Amino acid sequence: MLVLKSKNFQKHISSYKIVNNKGVTVWLTGLSGAGKSTIARHIEKELKARNRQVEVLDGDLIRTWLSQGLGFSKKDRDINVRRVGFVANLLSRNGVIVIAATISPYQDIRDEIRAINKNFIEVYVNAPLEICEARDVKGLYAKARAGEIKGFTGIDDPYEVPMNPEVICESGKETVEESAGKVIRALEELGYLQVAAESLS
Ligand code: ADX
Repeated sequence: MLVLKSKNFQKHISSYKIVNNKGVTVWLTGLSGAGKSTIARHIEKELKARNRQVEVLDGDLIRTWLSQGLGFSKKDRDINVRRVGFVANLLSRNGVIVIAATISPYQDIRDEIRAINKNFIEVYVNAPLEICEARDVKGLYAKARAGEIKGFTGIDDPYEVPMNPEVICESGKETVEESAGKVIRALEELGYLQVAAESLS
């Protein structure tokens, strides 16, 4: 007990901002090129500015580090998405806001991840295929159309539109700030994030 009363201990306490941080998994799903990663990074920036612990689990990075070797069959996508959901749960149950950004094209697996993650928000990043294809940031749509890539989501592989997402970002029409703002407001309204002082006025 003596230690707890020491001046040095008290100094630590007063320098820490103790807040009740409730973790949550924010699951961004949508076609390749719909803007999931960009929106995720915007949300991340805003949350960090509000002193929240945040981790982005981005599909491309996950496939480099955690899911190397997996392909794009339903079986492999399910394994990949389950891994992301598992890690998201480990982090979010410890107060982290996790932003997962994967195509995750199948509703059954998204529902499975929702069942595992107690606190879960599904965000449909909705950009029409024509827009994603026109953007073709990685040049993969052109390859898929040319038949060089088989089983590309939206071209010759399915994408199941979320049936009941908490948030829909119309990323074909909205700015990134608008889309990210929708998610931030949902986090506030659902009690995962304190309402920013400026939004109270
Ligand atoms: S998921 O279906 O398993 O959720 P994930 O989000 O990890 O997919 O990876 C998608 C990324 O992989 C795309 O943005 C794209 O860059 C690349 N990719 C390569 N092949 C395919 C494919 N056949 N279908 C979709 N994306 C592919």
